[in-house]
Amino acid sequence: MEILGIDVGGTGIKSNVVNLSTGALVAEKFKIKTPEPANPAAIIECLKACVDNFGWQGKKIGIGFPSVIKNGISLTASNIDAEFINYNIDAEFSAALGCDVKVVNDADAAGIAEMTYGKGKDVQGLVIFITLGTGIGSALFYNGQLLGNTEFGHLKYKKSVFEKYASNYAREFHHLSWKKWAKELDVYLNHLNLILSPDLILIGGGVSKHFDLYKQYLNVPVKVDIASLLNDAGIVGAAMAAK
Ligand code: BGC
Repeated sequence: MEILGIDVGGTGIKSNVVNLSTGALVAEKFKIKTPEPANPAAIIECLKACVDNFGWQGKKIGIGFPSVIKNGISLTASNIDAEFINYNIDAEFSAALGCDVKVVNDADAAGIAEMTYGKGKDVQGLVIFITLGTGIGSALFYNGQLLGNTEFGHLKYKKSVFEKYASNYAREFHHLSWKKWAKELDVYLNHLNLILSPDLILIGGGVSKHFDLYKQYLNVPVKVDIASLLNDAGIVGAAMAAK
């Protein structure tokens, strides 16, 4: 079975058709920039462009979205427009695209893919999957079961929240060296370890591919590894969620 998966991020929107038996991407990835402002009307235009690109009219679509999603409603908006707060996202997107659309939190989507096809496969106990991108997304699993919408990027830190210091965006925005940025990441991972005592922490998002440049600065008393699906996990997991 194949489903179109779309990963809506604070910076870019990525999509592809996913083979759900293997988790493989079927076609060439289609990427566009996240519009500004990223309000519902503008995002819907981008989603239509994804649908057109793959000729996916009328067929089921799964979307990972940077917001807490409960019962088909988006409840928060840190890196997208505030119009998405309390927005009937499943119903509105389905109506706009003329098909059945299921939206889930983007980090939860990526985590589901990594737990099924990647390094989280068959791992028992507590796994924290985090994505380091424009913000910090999190997905928590116990014996492979997702506990959704955890939003661990929004744990309080200094004068704000951890994602303002340890996301990849924070590294780029403040022109931090890998070492300086990794020190913040290290504080963050140790904080997660302190409050949750996980068995494994998996790092996803674009910056995971540069792990060799900063892993030597991390000193966390728990196994930390990079996700094997790297930046495609969000697309794969979004498609899986729709199934
Ligand atoms: C949002 C999360 C999202 C993460 C990564 C955060 O700012 O609150 O819902 O998972 O960014 O996109």
